[in-house]
Amino acid sequence: MSTVSVPEQTETPEFGFNAKQGVNWSDYVTFRPIYPPSFFNRIFTYHFNSHPETNWTTAHDVGAGCGIAASSLATRFDKVIVSDPNEGYTKLAHKVLVTESGHPESKFRFLQESAEKCSVESGSVDLITVCECIHWMRPEVAIAEFARQLRVGGTLVITHYNHPRIEGNERAQRAWDAIRDVYVGAVSNPMFEHALRIMNSGFECLGFPVEAWEGVRRLYVNALGRVETFRLDDRVGKTLVHEGEEVVWEEGDEGWMDEQGIEWFRGYLATWAKPDVSETELKPYWEELERAMDGKKVRTATPLVMVFATKRA
Ligand SMILES: C[S@@+](CC[C@H](N)C(=O)[O-])C[C@H]1O[C@@H](n2cnc3c(N)ncnc32)[C@H](O)[C@@H]1O
Repeated sequence: MSTVSVPEQTETPEFGFNAKQGVNWSDYVTFRPIYPPSFFNRIFTYHFNSHPETNWTTAHDVGAGCGIAASSLATRFDKVIVSDPNEGYTKLAHKVLVTESGHPESKFRFLQESAEKCSVESGSVDLITVCECIHWMRPEVAIAEFARQLRVGGTLVITHYNHPRIEGNERAQRAWDAIRDVYVGAVSNPMFEHALRIMNSGFECLGFPVEAWEGVRRLYVNALGRVETFRLDDRVGKTLVHEGEEVVWEEGDEGWMDEQGIEWFRGYLATWAKPDVSETELKPYWEELERAMDGKKVRTATPLVMVFATKRA
């Protein structure tokens, strides 16, 4: 199955996760999982341990949205490039990072640009983070573009957290699965199908050509030892995993576990760019989830994939 199903960009391309798809950043920061310390520890450990003697100065957060990951990069790097192609998002990131978080403005460069076509100078970036957004890109074009921007020895990290599962309440999990199935079953437009193929593959469909990359590490957290944990349905991009890449499984990361009530599940689902789904169709499943939770919170665990790669000399 091909992963290249998003139409080539035209003069006025539509980018995924845009305002027309119902994106609400206030809900996003309230209901999406917060990147825990373990997330950034893994990034900084891979990056700084690979070339400890080097003076790393510049990070680039691609598809930065409102700047959540960029905010943590700003604690470790002198310069942070914050890029996103959708109208208004880098303005919002500026507000969050500079006005509200108090980082010095001089630290940042804001670019309303796509991952595939970016004005950042060649060989000028030390670390690139691509969090929760590669599925909206043409990965092979974007990954080549990341290789162009990185200095030799620089790090690329691409991450995705999947739909959370419910632990310890099978009836609630079944109802939650049924809600997911209604949403995913309604996906038929090419942009959303493309996104699904990438997410469903647990990033196995992301390829890192050996001429450009080394030290590829595919890390799965809370994924129960199976890449299938990332499957929302059976539209899966074909694997581009190379022999010699490292695959690592880590379970029990509490940073990606929580206790949540029914209102959180509703709020969380509303943060995903989604197809048209009728509330009437969903109603019986929400009611079943509510009954299964019986007014109590349930324990959630979120699977995460992080793919690391180093720019080769
Ligand atoms: C779910 S948000 C993730 C935001 C942020 N990285 C985070 O982790 O919270 C997806 C982001 O991808 C951006 N995006 C969509 N298409 C893109 C593209 N071709 N290049 C770069 N970013 C893109 C959207 O504008 C949106 O901000």
